[in-house]
Amino acid sequence: MAIQKVGVVGCGLMGSGIAQVCAQAGFTTVVREVSAELVEKGLKGIEKNLARLVEKGTLTEAAKGEVRGRLKGTTSLDDLKDCDLIVEAIIEQLPVKRELFGALDKLCPPETVFASNTSSLTITEIAAATKRPQRFVGLHFFNPVPVMKLVEVVKTISTDPAVYEEMVRFGAKLGKTPVRASDSGGFIVNRLLVPYLLDAIRALEEGVGSVVDIDNSMKLGCGYPMGPFTLLDFVGLDTTYYISQIMFEEFKEKRFAAPPLLKRMVLAGWNGKKSGRGFYDYSDPANPKPIQF
Ligand code: 3HC
Repeated sequence: MAIQKVGVVGCGLMGSGIAQVCAQAGFTTVVREVSAELVEKGLKGIEKNLARLVEKGTLTEAAKGEVRGRLKGTTSLDDLKDCDLIVEAIIEQLPVKRELFGALDKLCPPETVFASNTSSLTITEIAAATKRPQRFVGLHFFNPVPVMKLVEVVKTISTDPAVYEEMVRFGAKLGKTPVRASDSGGFIVNRLLVPYLLDAIRALEEGVGSVVDIDNSMKLGCGYPMGPFTLLDFVGLDTTYYISQIMFEEFKEKRFAAPPLLKRMVLAGWNGKKSGRGFYDYSDPANPKPIQF
């Protein structure tokens, strides 16, 4: 089994990043979105990233042309039927993912490998919507995908070991460091990251420090690239809230329970950077202002 053609379903923040790194690594890549506008938006983002690489001198203009030549956008699932691997990066809703993979299962030959980029849903449960759970893995990438060097390769109790090893090699071919993780809620990164982020909110609720002081503490005291509140706004408060609910459901442990403040911020539509407001106000994006609670 050798992966040559990759299908990516979803061309949002994660899907476009995955499509970009696949095309840059030399794979023929087809990325599918539900509307022509979303395909165009995703491809424009990739184009911008590639142009930045050319500006910086990391990519030649000719190589950029080759990458773009390997990358095709579509609104039709049918265009993915001859892919060797399909990576899904759509909305984090189990029924929607199961429906998508059910349709792909009927469309693709039995050899095609399926992967989900879910951050917290159970791969086993998504794979159960298909007749090929042995050819199903998790490939969990990190935002921003072109920059972050990690991919979690997730094995379920049904995954064929040969398929799994091929996926570990695929992760390395993308220029990422693949880590092996089992299909346990949140895998490795979110198992550790989510309680840390939720604890930062609890510390804020308890008055341990301000948004800026807690952020600076972890940034300057521990060398983290972003403090927890900047990272929460970057990941999305709705996303973090959703992941915490799934992980709490899985483990029934308090450390995964969403703090009341997080729930209220999400209910108020304060979803972080993408909504213009989270723990910081992004009215002036170059100069975010911490919210006083
Ligand atoms: N796409 C492509 N490239 C990007 C980018 C993007 N969206 N954002 C930044 N970059 C590139 C820049 O071009 C720059 O490249 P260069 O070094 O070659 O010039 C490099 O990244 C650094 O960018 P900046 O100088 O603008 O800014 P920073 O030094 O602050 O880095 C960052 C930005 C890489 C986002 C850094 O702050 C960081 O690593 N933050 C932590 C991100 C993180 O933890 N991500 C994981 C989130 S958890 C997750 O995704 C899992 C999910 O399940 C929740």
